[in-house]
Amino acid sequence: MEILKQAVARELASASGFARHGLDEKKIVEFLGRPPKAEMGDLALGCFKPAKELGLKPNELAAQLAQGVAAGALVSAVTAAGPYVNLRLNRESAAAHVLRAVETSSVGQDPRQWRFGNGNEGNGRTLVVDLSSPNIAKPLAVHHLRSTMIGYAIKRIREAQGWRVVGINHLGDWGTGFGKLIAGLKKYFPAIARRAESGDPRPLGDMSVAELNAVYARFSAESRENEELAESGRAEFALLEQHIEALVGGTRDTAGPAGEANFRIWQHTRDLSLAEFERMYTHLGLSFAQWPVVDAARARVLNAQPDDFYREHCLYIGESYYVAAEDLCRRIIADAVAAKVAEESEGAIVIYTHGKDKPPLMLVKADGATSYHVRDLAAAVYRQRHWHADELCYVVGGEQKLHFEQLFRALALLGHRWAAGCSHVDFGLMMFQQPDGKWAKTSTRRGTAIMLEDLLDEAVRSVREIMAQKNPELAGSPDAERIARAVGVGAVVFNDLKNGRRNNVKFDWDAVLDFEGESGPYMQYQFVRMGSVLEKYREKYGEPDFALGDPALLSLPEEWAILQQLADFPAAVERASREFEPSIVARALIDLAGATSTWWTITKDTRIVGDNPNLSLARVRLVDAVRKVLGRGLTLLGMNLVERM
Ligand code: ARG
Repeated sequence: MEILKQAVARELASASGFARHGLDEKKIVEFLGRPPKAEMGDLALGCFKPAKELGLKPNELAAQLAQGVAAGALVSAVTAAGPYVNLRLNRESAAAHVLRAVETSSVGQDPRQWRFGNGNEGNGRTLVVDLSSPNIAKPLAVHHLRSTMIGYAIKRIREAQGWRVVGINHLGDWGTGFGKLIAGLKKYFPAIARRAESGDPRPLGDMSVAELNAVYARFSAESRENEELAESGRAEFALLEQHIEALVGGTRDTAGPAGEANFRIWQHTRDLSLAEFERMYTHLGLSFAQWPVVDAARARVLNAQPDDFYREHCLYIGESYYVAAEDLCRRIIADAVAAKVAEESEGAIVIYTHGKDKPPLMLVKADGATSYHVRDLAAAVYRQRHWHADELCYVVGGEQKLHFEQLFRALALLGHRWAAGCSHVDFGLMMFQQPDGKWAKTSTRRGTAIMLEDLLDEAVRSVREIMAQKNPELAGSPDAERIARAVGVGAVVFNDLKNGRRNNVKFDWDAVLDFEGESGPYMQYQFVRMGSVLEKYREKYGEPDFALGDPALLSLPEEWAILQQLADFPAAVERASREFEPSIVARALIDLAGATSTWWTITKDTRIVGDNPNLSLARVRLVDAVRKVLGRGLTLLGMNLVERM
């Protein structure tokens, strides 16, 4: 009803009673709601709050307000009922208003150009969103899918509300774990050590990420019982960090050739991992650019049209950046110590963010290595400074709650007032059914992980099979692969986004791929179906001129229900943006698709495109509006639309 509420408020604000009591458009919208029973009216204005402000009894105010209203273009009847003013709308004008709003903001055939539901709440402000952020040398796991898709949807939804959004992949490419990896590689594959020492830039050859991960896991396990091994891991990392810090600081490299060799291994690990991650991001339709964007062509793009650039690309700024390129970590540590915010504790430097009883935030470990925490502090400062961010958000699983609480508190303690604009956008686990029927989260450590790549491949393969069965002609066409990908990947994405992000997602193949249920394929199929209805109209009556589609002919209650949902859509996008909650958009689409399918059942006899040309035109006008809102919503969620399936 949102866009109707606004139009109604505009109309009421000019009525004498409202003007006299100082109720302007904005206030009226605030007090308008939907009455509990349809018989009472289409909208009701609750008088409790405004009456209190005016020192009147709610019933009195309602009576006075109702009296002064003459029937207008939209409002057809007004009655006071106790503390409420009930309003009935002229359905025809209301329908015309909603349809026009959709039509004027959804021009052309490219869904990426449709703008219904856009707003200007952001007003050019900047949000930096941390999304995806996997660790290198580890396969992408399904929780990274959640972060990627929730983050990407948030990016698009915020952009639709007038925000500039910079998406950052905070790659886990630094930390003591790399010491273990390097030590393991050297121990189990002496040839790698030799190649790295002799200056080979690809010392790892063609190792896969899974193999790298296995080396890490093996070394980790062995060093748990062997202090000497554990020490060698720490030493390798110290060499790496010393080498890099010397490089950045231009100081003498105390790590010597061993540090250089470790650096080569690390760099190659990063390259190999990124090549694998890229495959996945391409699948999902995301593009990440290396930061800083240095090549001439890109740099020009960045300077000339930065907003376009950030709309199309997210950035890779790994954790190593704040150690290797900016020296920010050491400066933050020094500042924190100088400001007496940080203190020494058992050889480490820490900040007690939540009092002495709670574990402190670690800045520097006892062995001198930088921590995950300090790299996040550096990243936050960098993001805020570089992009003048008004808000920073982190799309990261709920298990890191404490980490972010400490991070934000530390920022505040360091005097950054903008810390108040930081939020941890947490989310629940992806659960898989185990052979014994129980649901459990996957675990890389126990070796039962379900890899993201397998998951997406499986989805695409299943869609291909279903297509071969149901639509063999399409399955044999050149479009088949693109469609199978869009529908397969979309199935996984929609399954992820349709429930509140904090809920755990049960991953059930049957539900994910169900062409009838609340699934991605169902939503995409509805979009396709609406396109075919329009096609059918064209075949029978020629190109429709929607301006001639008479809203008065949309008199069924089912049609009114659909129109109300269309009117509600912009408010859903706005709320999704405010609450970092893409599921609000997904739910609105599910409801819209549901209402539309009910309508189609009801109109079976007269049909959408039937023998009455005027009725058919009015109905396809509604179909077109629904199709555009559905298409707009699915695009906001990061899904690709198809024209056939
Ligand atoms: N690399 C971490 C992981 O895979 C997530 C990083 C989240 N972002 C951040 N700024 N801490 O669990």
